[in-house]
Formats: sequence, structure tokens, C-alpha cells
Amino acid sequence: MKYGFFDDQAREYVITRPDTPLPWINYLGSDGFFSLISNTCGGYSFYRDAKLRRITRFRYNNVPADDGGRCFYICDGDTVWSPAFLPARTPLDRYRCRHGLGYSVFEGAKNGVSAALTVTVPIDTSMEVQRLTLKNESDQEKKLTVYGAVEWCLWNAVDDATNFQRNWNIGEVELEGSTVYHKTEYRERRDHYAFYSVNAPIAGFDTDRDSFLGQFRGWREPLAVEQRTSFCSVASGWAPIAALRLELTLAPGEEKTLLFRLGYVELPREEKFTALNVINKAPAHKLLAAFETEAQFNAALEALRTYWTDLLSRFTVRSSEEKLDRMVNIWNQYQCMVTFNMSRSASYYESGTGRGMGFRDSCQDLLGFVHLIPERARERIVDIASIQFADGSTYHQYQPLTKRGNADVGSGFNDDPLWLVACTCAYLRETGDFSILDAPTPFNNEAGTEVPLLEHLRRSVNYTVTHKGPHGLPLIGRADWNDCLNLNCFSLTPGESFQTCSNFESGKAESVFIAGMFVKYGTEYAALCDQIGLGTEAAEIRTQVAEMEKAVLAHGWDGEWFRRAYDAFERPIGSKDNEEGKIFIEPQGFCVMAGIGGEACGKKALASTERLLGNDFGIELLSPCYSEYHDYLGEISSYPPGYKENGSVFCHNNPWITLAWCKVRDGNAAFDLYTRNAPAYIEDKSEIHRTEPYCYSQTIAGRAAQNYGEAKNAWLTGTAAWSFVAVSQGILGVRPDYAGLVVDPCLPDSMAGCQISRLFRGTRYEITVRRGAEKGLTVDGQPIAGNTVPLTDAPLCRVTVTL
Ligand code: BGC
Repeated sequence: MKYGFFDDQAREYVITRPDTPLPWINYLGSDGFFSLISNTCGGYSFYRDAKLRRITRFRYNNVPADDGGRCFYICDGDTVWSPAFLPARTPLDRYRCRHGLGYSVFEGAKNGVSAALTVTVPIDTSMEVQRLTLKNESDQEKKLTVYGAVEWCLWNAVDDATNFQRNWNIGEVELEGSTVYHKTEYRERRDHYAFYSVNAPIAGFDTDRDSFLGQFRGWREPLAVEQRTSFCSVASGWAPIAALRLELTLAPGEEKTLLFRLGYVELPREEKFTALNVINKAPAHKLLAAFETEAQFNAALEALRTYWTDLLSRFTVRSSEEKLDRMVNIWNQYQCMVTFNMSRSASYYESGTGRGMGFRDSCQDLLGFVHLIPERARERIVDIASIQFADGSTYHQYQPLTKRGNADVGSGFNDDPLWLVACTCAYLRETGDFSILDAPTPFNNEAGTEVPLLEHLRRSVNYTVTHKGPHGLPLIGRADWNDCLNLNCFSLTPGESFQTCSNFESGKAESVFIAGMFVKYGTEYAALCDQIGLGTEAAEIRTQVAEMEKAVLAHGWDGEWFRRAYDAFERPIGSKDNEEGKIFIEPQGFCVMAGIGGEACGKKALASTERLLGNDFGIELLSPCYSEYHDYLGEISSYPPGYKENGSVFCHNNPWITLAWCKVRDGNAAFDLYTRNAPAYIEDKSEIHRTEPYCYSQTIAGRAAQNYGEAKNAWLTGTAAWSFVAVSQGILGVRPDYAGLVVDPCLPDSMAGCQISRLFRGTRYEITVRRGAEKGLTVDGQPIAGNTVPLTDAPLCRVTVTL
């Protein structure tokens, strides 16, 4: 069952009813000011950092869910309604939510009045703009009372939700015309404030939440709205809000447009005030003046459209598969931008207060983003490398605002360093910009410790070489990619963090997955060394890689598939000899992608993977699921069977299998797996899958779960980047390389061919893939050997590949 439809022309998903199984959200903003917005207009905004600079309040565990956010009320006679259904919850005569790229539109209508609410964060603007157009579609004059309201967060989202003995005393606002300024803590150490404003004279306002809502009431039925009035409350402590009231009269057929603006301003210390405790509003005035008219708003929407058209034109496909095209051309790339911006910080499942930017997460996000805006990728790579320690290990996370490593979680995730190699090599192949390797990059952000970025990569590789266990396989540390495989933690204390405790440091537990990573990314590092004339180092690394391959074949191969790990007592995990957790997905993906054991092992491992882990929605993480908790395994066995790491389809690693199928040249299997969880392909199962049908979620409950097929944790998942890599570089086979663009499609038999357009190092490659007797590649009509189209200075290059 569906709750809407894709409008590919407009690049929108159109939701046709408010009662989606879960809030279906969108992201606004591309740099600095960000907003989350659901299909009923819920959500919140923040500046750069969802923990430290939260602008509006959101209650994650609220009932009813998704209450608050942007609260619009239209009072028409006895009826009060909201254009996006919430918060008023009055049934609408018409409802649509159109989530587009960087904007969302809500179209509601009730009793002869229609509302079109378009919300966006204009490019390079620290402000969300909400355009509300009301139209009288009846044949009688309408007198409407209209409210727009937001609830302020007292900046630090953790304090805001916990430190009430302080919070209820500090709230402060200022008023000026049709603008409410939120200035809590500005009197002391903060040099930023926020504001909410409308571009028309207001009839009244409230800034104290409890006055506006009234006792025993919530956002559904504020007292002020019920009485069609404002109490003109000025917040002093408690919960500051901004609620603006306007009175409108609309003749039959008439429409009026209002621009509500939610902005954020930072000031230099010495310019904070214009008088004692009176905030300097000049920067806010400037922001407001830039979005005072509809023409300005329209221009911003147009600029946004152009921005996305340009970005998405870097890789497009035209094929017989409509759903494939819409994933590749629109939604998968859009999600790659979102994960690049957010890492794992702020979604409807990530509270924005916990994880900040993950080292391995952000490195992987770059794989799907680097072709979009390489300059931003470059900056990010250096930021990430700057939280690494001198021995090659690294902090696991950092806070976006401070860019400092998160000491609470610390380090010791032994896969982390190798991901830095992965993303830097991807950046280099995309751009050819070797100067990044010279970028002075500190260790642990300490001034004076800067070394060229290349040295960070070297230490990353070396970290694995120098941290091996009894079988010559990499030590796992606290965990590898699978955060929940905690083989040294042995936790029996409720609430103890599986990731940070280590009650028994065996110094023995090993990861076959990291071994696969090392073979893949060690090889990529060696290729990089070759490019920059470090032949001896390349040879040394290749020796290490060969040794690792040998260790995997000796101790990591189980006969029909790759093992997962060795525990603290040197016992295999992910082996036929285990009762549960006999086979895991991760090493099958990485060892096959790395080519360990060649095609023979690869095909065997993948066949086992499909046979034992395959379900309708993809490949489960492990099987059989752990039915009880084992302290020697850690968090993985803490989840009920079929959920999360204990045997769900953990979507992130499914594209590894897709890529592995491409590696053994099975286009049918690769495409079949791709389509099993690509959101557009499962749109019509939305009542089962439940999360948004236009973005990937982290997990889909496995067969062992009660709610088999139900997805959770939409949006912020490495699935976005890896799916884009799998489909663009594996199935469609277009891969940037040092010497040129590799064109090596691995299509299913069901596809006769396709057209691909790829912008690569300044050249537009128009690629025709077709089937025919004369196999091979032509470049501008000339046949070439191999599958690498050499670099060229020409603006356009036509490539034909015949399969
Ligand atoms: C984390 C990833 C991790 C994955 C698997 C996610 O929640 O963000 O870093 O690889 O879980 O455990």
C-alpha cells in the first residue's frame, strides 16, 4: 500500500494523506542552518550542531508523536485548522505534502479556504522561510485569524531537556514590531540569538508558552487560539515561544501571502548590544530584508532548484527501469547530501545530542558524496583526519561545532583508520587533486602536531599491520564496523556502554572483516603510492596485503563462506561450528570485494549468503539470530532476534554484497538484491516497511522478528552512500580512476542497455550501454582496449559500451 507517489518531473515525493505510518520527513538547509520537517510540519531547526545550537524544541518521546514544530492555525468561523493537519488535527478537505529537494510544500484546504505553505532554508542563509498563501475559494468574504508559532529551545538540547532547575529561570525574549527575538543566555556568554517574524503587521503576540497554551492544554488547542486572541505575554523564564497573530480579510477568490521567518544570528562580542541588555538587531534586520517579498522568496526557490539541477546532473541514468532512474537521479543522491551534512547526528531517530559526526560514518558518507561537491569533501577529509592520534588510532566521533574528538566514546574501533584511506582514495580518483596529501593535518587537533595528510593515511594502514592477533588477523578492539560485536567487553552490568567498557582486554579477539578491509584498502593505498612515486612503499604494502590474504584463507575461510571473527578465547565466530551466528554478511561483502580467494571463493560465499541470509528485503546481517545474551559477544546478542545487528537486514552492508556480485560478474544477482530494498522499489509495501519510501533506513526487521519487514532509523545511514556506490560504480559500472573513467557495467539480463551521463574532471561523458555482438568500448567512435576511458581535456566525450 502507498501513501503518496513520486513526481519525478518535479523531483518531489507527494504524500496524499497525513496519517503516514511514521512521520515522513525532509531536510532543509545545506550548510549552517538546518531544519528537519515532517509531512505534518513537525520537526526542529538548529545551527551547525543539533546539540549545542538547537533553535527550536522537539520532544523525541512525545505523545502524540511529532507534536509542535511549526504551528500554524487558521481560524475560520468556528473551525480551527492547520494547513499540514498538525497541530490542530482538524480533518482537512484537501491535504498534500510535497517533499522536494531542500523544500517542503503543504497544501491544505478547509471550508472554502486553501492554504499553501512552502518551507525552505534559502542557500547561504541562516534562516528558514515559511511562505503561507491563503486563498478564499468560496463565494463569501472570509475573516480569518491566523497564527504562526514556534517553541524555542534553550540552545543546548541536552541541558534543555534535563536541567530544569536552571532552565525555568533563564528564558528571555525581546519584541520589535512583528518580530520576537529569543535571547536566552545572550546576556552572559552566548553571542547568538534567534528570531521569528512575519512580514505583515501583527494583531497580537505571545512569547510565554504556558500563557499561550493555557493550563491542561497542548499545541492542538491553545487557549489563545480558542479565544481568537493573544495575551501579549512576555516570557520571563519558563518556556519562551514566539506566537504571532494576524487578522486577515479575504474577498471571494482573493489570496494573500505571508512570509514567516525563523532566523539565527551570531555577533562579535563587542557588537552584541545597542543598549544595556538590548540586543543588536542589525544583522536580523538584514536577513529579514532579504526575504521581505514574494519575489525574493521565489528567487530563492529558483536558486535552490538550479543548485540541485546542477548537482544532480553530475551523474544521471536513463533506462527502462523507472524506479532505478528515480533512485539514481534524485533520491539516492539527495540522501547522500543529507548524510554528508548530518552524519549520524539529527534525524527523527538520532536525537542530535548523542553521536555527532562519526569517523567511520563520515568517511563512508564521502564515498557517495565526493562527486557532488569535491571541495566540501576535501575539507571534511582533513577535519576527520584531525581527530586521529599519532599512532594511527582515532577518536570515534566528533562534535561538528567544535570539531574536537568525543572523549566520552574515545577510540579503539579498529576499523576506523582504514576508512580514512577509503575516502581519501575516492577523493583522489574523483578529482586528481593530489595536493590534499600535503594538507597540514594535526593529530588530535593539537596545534604544532601537523603533518601532511599522507602521513595520516600511512599511519592508518600501519595501525592494522601492527595490531594483529594470534591468527595474523587484525585485532578488533572495541568493535569494527559492527559496533555491536564487542568481543572484549564482557559486560554484565545493566546500562554499561558496550562500546566503551572493556572488562577483559584479551588482546586476542580478531576481525576477518577488518582483514577484508585491509586487503581492499591496503591495495588502494599501494595504488596511490604508485601514483605519487612511492614505489618501494607500494611494494611493502602489497607484501602486507598478500600476508593478510593468506591469513584469511588459512583462518578466515570456513569452507562455504568467510568467518566473521575470533573471540577473546580464539574461538571462531560466524562458522558452521557455531550454533547461532553461523554466518555473517560483513566478511562476505568485504572479502569478496577485495578478491580474497578469487572468483571461486567469492561465488561460493555469495551463494551461501543468499541461501542462508536472503529474505524479501535483502540480506540479513547474520543467521541464525542469537537467542540469548552472551557476554563474550557483546551488544549484538542484546537485541531480540531479527532486530538491529542481531539479524535484521542492516541495509548499510547490503550494497557490499551487490558490489561483490558485480565483482564476480553476476549482474542478475546484483540487481535483484539492489531492488529488494531500494526505497522506490518497495514503495507499495509502505504499510509494512513504514519509513519513508524515498530514502533508505538503517534496518529492516529480519525474518526472526515479530515485525518482519518493518524498517527503522530512516535517513542517517551509510546505506545511502554505499547504495549509490553499488548502483553507479557496480551495476552501472562507471568508476573514477587515476588514469580515467572506468566504464564497466554489470547489468541484469532484463535491461537491454541505458544512457549514462557523468561529469568527471571537467569532461561530460555521454555513455551508451547496449547489447550486441561486437563487445567492447568505443570512445568518440574509436574502439579502445580495456575499459578505462582515458582522461581528456575535451568538454564532451562520447562512449559506447557493447555488452
Ligand atoms: C553506526 C555505524 C556502524 C553500524 C553498525 C551504526 O549505527 O553509526 O558506525 O557501523 O551502526 O553497527
